[in-house]
Formats: sequence, structure tokens, C-alpha cells
Amino acid sequence: MKKIIIAMDGHSSCGKSTMAKALAKKIGYTYIDTGAMYRAVTLYAMRRGFIGKDGIDEESLRRELPQINISFGHDSEGLQYTILNGENVERQIRGMEVSGNVSPISAIGFVREAMVELQREMGKTGAIIMDGRDIGTTVFPNAELKIFVTASDEIRARRRFDELTVKGESPVYEEVLKNVRERDYIDSHRAVSPLRKADDAIVLDNSNMTFEEQDQWLMEQYLKAAKD
Ligand code: DC
Repeated sequence: MKKIIIAMDGHSSCGKSTMAKALAKKIGYTYIDTGAMYRAVTLYAMRRGFIGKDGIDEESLRRELPQINISFGHDSEGLQYTILNGENVERQIRGMEVSGNVSPISAIGFVREAMVELQREMGKTGAIIMDGRDIGTTVFPNAELKIFVTASDEIRARRRFDELTVKGESPVYEEVLKNVRERDYIDSHRAVSPLRKADDAIVLDNSNMTFEEQDQWLMEQYLKAAKD
């Protein structure tokens, strides 16, 4: 089997990361969650007061960007968490507040440039599964396998709602649905690297699939792409 790069792009809350993590574990690949990186930058900007009612203080964020260090760690059960300047911020970056601010932050050109550079560095060894919005189009346009995952808005909102509830938050379904739609709109209409399917990506609509079905489907795509 060849060591390949697997690019997983698609809409928010469509289960990309769950699928990607499951495959990475089975085949011994490194999983990289690029959404977590944009979320960590957003958390940093929120904490520093760079996101206000009147918008984002881009100049301050640009100045402090070199001081934002993002990496990943693994707990004793192998679960991945995001580290921002030495602090485990996994829980904070998944909350509604970060979710509500992350799209405008990830639309900023200099933020994307810095993250793409870091992602290319993280992926240069191969044998990786990277999940995001622009992996197959911008970060690794030569990835051997590109998957574009999608599902209906309502199903994605329901999944996100359940995820937040399990974590002990008290989400309102209509707000979650609104957030899913808003993020889709901003992600697909931004000037820099908008979310779009790479021409050579394979589409997976998992609206009506079980975890087992989608995992099996992904494994088949991997086996085909990595065959010597
Ligand atoms: O995958 P996620 O929902 O955690 O991503 C959070 C946000 O980051 C999402 O609104 C879009 C943005 N993002 C991006 O612009 N490019 C990526 N490669 C990954 C995420």
C-alpha cells in the first residue's frame, strides 16, 4: 500500500471528522483537524478582545499571529485535543461562542495563509487524513484521495445539537440550524479559498447513512486509492 494524503472537505457538522478519525485509527494514519486550528485562532482573538460588535480588529490579530501556537495532543485513550499556546482548549473551541465567530475569522486572508502553511508542514510526511474546507482545492491539490462530504442542513443541525447536548450544553435547535446555515453561506462565499468541491473529489452525501455504512464506504475508497 502507498502512503497517501486523504483530503476530506465538506459542509460543517456532516460527520467528516468522525469518519476521518475512524479511518485514521484503522489504517494507522495521522488525523489533522484543520477546523480546530481556525477555532483556536478564533478563541485567541476572542480572549484578546479582537472581536467586537463592530467587527474584527484585524490589525491587532495580524500583529499577534506569530505568537499563536497551535498543535495537537493525545490523551491516554488516544483522543486528540487541540493545544493553544500550551493550553488544552478542546472544550472551549467547540462551544457555541467560538462556533459563532469562527467563519469571519477563517475568511481573513492572512489567517488562512498562516494556517495553510502550518497544515502543509504537518502533512508533508504523508500517511495523513486532513479534514477541512479547502484541503483538496488549496492545501493539498495533489492529494491522492479527495472526498467531499455533505448532508442536508436539518440533519447536520440535529447532529450538532445532539453533540452539544451530550457535552452538557443546552442548545436551541433553531439557533443551531441558523448557525449551520450561516457558516455554510460564509464558508462558500468568502473571497479566499471558498468551500467548493475539488473537480476530482468524490462526493459522499451521508444524510441517510449509518456510521458503519459510511466507514465502510470510506475504507473502500482508501483501499482503491492506496493500491500499489
Ligand atoms: O470543521 P469545523 O466546523 O470545526 O470548522 C470551523 C470553521 O472553520 C468553519 O466555519 C470553516 C472554517 N474552516 C475553514 O475555513 N477551512 C478549513 N480548512 C477548516 C475549517
